[in-house]
Amino acid sequence: MTNMKTSRFFRTSFTRATARFALAVILAGGFAATLAAADPTAATDKTGPVKKKLTGAELYVIHCNRCHQERYPTEFNSAQWQTLMTHMRVRANLPAKQAKEVLKYMKEEAGK
Ligand code: HEC
Repeated sequence: MTNMKTSRFFRTSFTRATARFALAVILAGGFAATLAAADPTAATDKTGPVKKKLTGAELYVIHCNRCHQERYPTEFNSAQWQTLMTHMRVRANLPAKQAKEVLKYMKEEAGK
């Protein structure tokens, strides 16, 4: 990627990315509150909160729009996602299991 392309990419996407990030934080808070409210055992359960396993799609929304807008899975094919994820999982600091879930989701949605 050339410098020109990169700077254009950032100029156009940074404010929107920031807004999206703020929205994601708000949504994540609301989501957590909803989960707590919906759990009937929450008040009596002494074993602590139940850890919900996040899906690839959820992990993608949480982690992959921090630095740039999310890219549609259909923008790239499976082979390209495989390569992209080896780079972006490092940037997003994703553990192997989560990176695998995200990649699975991207490949399924890319459909090619
Ligand atoms: C810490 C910041 C950061 C995070 C988190 C991040 N990315 Fe990126 N991403 C970048 C930067 C910077 C670029 C552009 C420069 C480059 O390609 O290295 C980029 C580029 C991309 C591109 C465009 C490649 C192209 O040629 O147009 C895709 C697709 C992408 N990222 C997907 C993802 C996915 C999926 C995740 C989540 C696993 C993710 N990114 C998380 C920083 C990040």
